[in-house]
Amino acid sequence: MIYMDQAATSWPKPARVVEAVNYMLTGVSANAGRGNFATSEQASNLINGTREKIASFFGMPSRRGVIFTSSATEAANAVLLGTLKEGDHVITSTLEHNAIARTLYALEQKGISTTKIYRNPVSGVRLERVEEAIRPNTKLIVWNHASNVFGTLSDLDGLSRLAQAYKIKVMVDGAQTAGSIPIHMDDMGIDYLTCSGHKGLYGPQGIGLLLLRNPDEALPVWKYGETGDKSELLPLPMQAPECYEAGTPNLPGIAGLAEGIEFVLEQTLEKIHTRNLEKIETIYENLSEIEGVILYGPPPGIDKVPILSFNIIGMLPDQVGEELFNRWEISVRTGLQSSYWAHEAAGTLPYGTVRVSVGCYTGGQDLEELAEAVETLTLEVKNRS
Ligand SMILES: Cc1ncc(COP(=O)(O)O)c(C=O)c1O
Repeated sequence: MIYMDQAATSWPKPARVVEAVNYMLTGVSANAGRGNFATSEQASNLINGTREKIASFFGMPSRRGVIFTSSATEAANAVLLGTLKEGDHVITSTLEHNAIARTLYALEQKGISTTKIYRNPVSGVRLERVEEAIRPNTKLIVWNHASNVFGTLSDLDGLSRLAQAYKIKVMVDGAQTAGSIPIHMDDMGIDYLTCSGHKGLYGPQGIGLLLLRNPDEALPVWKYGETGDKSELLPLPMQAPECYEAGTPNLPGIAGLAEGIEFVLEQTLEKIHTRNLEKIETIYENLSEIEGVILYGPPPGIDKVPILSFNIIGMLPDQVGEELFNRWEISVRTGLQSSYWAHEAAGTLPYGTVRVSVGCYTGGQDLEELAEAVETLTLEVKNRS
């Protein structure tokens, strides 16, 4: 199979990730902080060590701000539902994933207003547009670091400078950049960073991150229960990060994520990004030579994450996806890619696009086979009409 759905979940996983998950399931199935035997201690050490690694990877002042969640979606919900109150205003962009769009929509029903700034899939946004949208009750700017539909990158430095000038907090959805573009929360002025563990960080599914620049701020907890500490007290111990992680932690997920980050560090962010950008630019160039293909998003020469959306004139994206898989075993993501707003803004509703996304294990041959398959499909459409 030629797997080109890396933006959804990276695959295959590095051997060290698989081994770590396997070892946790076979060797250390213990609950961290809840036993005085060796494997429970090993579990606690792994969790603490991974927090340390993540804090350093994302330029955080303290590992206490590292909170393990089940996904980027859970992390985004925690921030949005926890920090926004009736009467508050949020600024966001048209290229956000449904993890943000649906949560903000739900909050709108509770009296929280949203201004959505148009972000061009190729050229991004003019910061003046964001500044013009700021109101006295603006509490948060919510923005992704890169679009999961078009790969478009954001000017996070500009955004956070603006937010700081108006004392507005910034939440960044880093689901598509964590593991390929450097993110330094402190230097970049990011208050909350959310990301998945299973994409560019090469961890398993079911692990995500909520990263707080200031772990002592009063972000409300969103679940109650056992934290492995002070069990004799009914009130939840309020110390971050444990107060946000009630319940048995996802040890295989954390172990796999720790090794995924090691893999990224070993490869280096720079090499991962440069190589993957070259691959997606090759795909862009190959497809741009085929008559009947429409390409969306930044062309070669503009920095982006390795994602490309396209359509074949005369075929629906879902049909293209089915043909690619059934005839050439090429896996791509078709339709709206969980991003209704992005397709609304790009004029690609109701059917969306075909999205290809590449990763460390995508080979040169894969790129050629994709181009040949797409060309065959366009010729078939032409011969039919
Ligand atoms: C930009 C973006 N945000 C959020 C998410 C949601 O991530 P998760 O599945 O970890 O909740 C995704 C997943 O594709 C994404 O691409």
